[in-house]
Amino acid sequence: MALSMAAKDSSWWVFTLPAFIGSETLVDQYVIFSILSAMVSLALVTWAFSPGGTAWKNGRNRNGAVPILGPRGLPLFGSLFTLSRGLAHRSLASLASSMNAKQLMAFSLGSTPVVVASDPQSAKEILTSPHFADRPIKQSARSLMFSRAIGFAPNGTYWRQLRRIAASHLFSPRRIAAHEPGRQKDCAAMLRNIESEQTLRGSVSLRRHLQDASLNNIMGSVFGKRYDTAHDSDELNELREMVREGFELLGAFNFSDYLPWLSCFYDPFGIVSRCESLVPRVRKLVNGIIEQHRMKKNKSENVSDVSDFVDEMIFRGTDTTALLTEWVMAELVLHPEVQAKLRDELDSKAAAAFTDADLAALPYLQAVVKETLRVHPPGPLLSWARLSTSDVQLSNGMVVPAATTAMVNMWAITHDSAVWSDPLEFKPERFLAALGGADVDVRGGDLRLAPFGAGRRVCPGKNLGMATVALWVAKLVRQFEWVEDKAAPVDLSEVLKLSCEMKYPLSAVAVNRNTVVEAIVAKLQPIREFIKTDEQDRYQRVTACLNQTRILLRTT
Ligand code: HEM
Repeated sequence: MALSMAAKDSSWWVFTLPAFIGSETLVDQYVIFSILSAMVSLALVTWAFSPGGTAWKNGRNRNGAVPILGPRGLPLFGSLFTLSRGLAHRSLASLASSMNAKQLMAFSLGSTPVVVASDPQSAKEILTSPHFADRPIKQSARSLMFSRAIGFAPNGTYWRQLRRIAASHLFSPRRIAAHEPGRQKDCAAMLRNIESEQTLRGSVSLRRHLQDASLNNIMGSVFGKRYDTAHDSDELNELREMVREGFELLGAFNFSDYLPWLSCFYDPFGIVSRCESLVPRVRKLVNGIIEQHRMKKNKSENVSDVSDFVDEMIFRGTDTTALLTEWVMAELVLHPEVQAKLRDELDSKAAAAFTDADLAALPYLQAVVKETLRVHPPGPLLSWARLSTSDVQLSNGMVVPAATTAMVNMWAITHDSAVWSDPLEFKPERFLAALGGADVDVRGGDLRLAPFGAGRRVCPGKNLGMATVALWVAKLVRQFEWVEDKAAPVDLSEVLKLSCEMKYPLSAVAVNRNTVVEAIVAKLQPIREFIKTDEQDRYQRVTACLNQTRILLRTT
């Protein structure tokens, strides 16, 4: 009996340790100091012997034939400060390149082990592996109750059901085509508002117009509800404010996601309380819309279930399309020759209504959008990471252990000179098949340019996103000549939130083409066409001259 008690007593060392170290009790300053020093030394030794940082202790990055290398970062914090400040995609790209770890680099974010792929082959293996079909969930997403939404629900029956509903009811080619008249209407309203701002201010700040059109496009496609800026201003303002807040909360870098113990006493951005106050506002608005919709259709859907899954679409879909179009327009202002070529292509289809099918058949327009996705991928780190659910062996001999967060640095791939020649130059021609350019499927089929991700968690809104951006760019360029605003020159600096957007919103002069000047230029068109058949060089000079005349006539 006594023996068995002795065997069970695991606290013996509390009484014996003071005797060994010559102290009265354990709560002696000297003892506390010794224990702390021992712990710190142990942490330092673990850190020093763990390439990739402390989250990779016990040789977790050496499970395969080839080890996964990476920076140690700081003890306890790992590479948290590298990612929390500045532009994480650029810092990670230069680290991976300098450590010769483009295929896969290991690093620690606090206690979280992370790998990042900056190479098309390893990116493909990660994104398309069924063992990387989960996502780590951030505190903000959990507080916004997105653990039941498509983007964060764990891979399983419930998530598959959501994807199926989204694929057939929201994003099927038939549904996207059915919403085309709505998209055209939003676009026409945007063009009118741009015209008014240009007349009033002499230049246009494009972001607000794109965000409004985008919000209406998502609300129309997902909820069947469109807003009229003149009549619904209160609800629209509330919605705009909620989208801004949700986007900021989801994109904020939260130290507590990686150092869970920190959340008890450090929440400088007030993420938890801000999420708590946002949730009921979103619920009220979304449930109201669904209720109206249900009454109109006289259907008995379960409002709460639908709301859980569509809330997220507003945050996910709104800004991505708007900010991608802003990048396209910024590049067109900086490259008037590309803008002129695009306009030529659009003018050659002057009679077209620019349906989705018309736009998909315009190679230069598609090339301009692809080149912008390459130079400015909206999610340079594909926004939301993946989580491994078991040990995964890659074809290069590396093994990623279970419960590792995996990222793909799409920005690093699209800016790698081994993948794309002259990666820093904006050259849509690289995508023109007729000129021997790359025929790349940007919807996840080719990891040299996969801005929508790939595999089973690929973006379900990719077709809607591409159709919308192509329509807006086509209409913006056909109706206006976009000229640099001398008072606010284009600045391509980036800021990384949930997506990567222009740090300084684009401002440009939008010169309406439907003027008498256009009529004159149109009269000159046959001369230009005649020369084209005659001599290519002279044709190009005349085209440039005509474009100059057009701008001069308009701006004087
Ligand atoms: C230019 C526009 C867009 C870009 C660049 C974009 C990009 C992305 C990326 C990179 C992912 C992660 C994919 C992965 O992990 O492999 C994603 C996921 C997602 N996107 Fe998009 N997106 C766009 C538009 C949209 C739109 C319009 C919607 C909806 C209306 C949408 C809804 C979603 C959702 C729900 C997910 C999560 C999917 C899942 O985890 O199963 N996106 N998007």
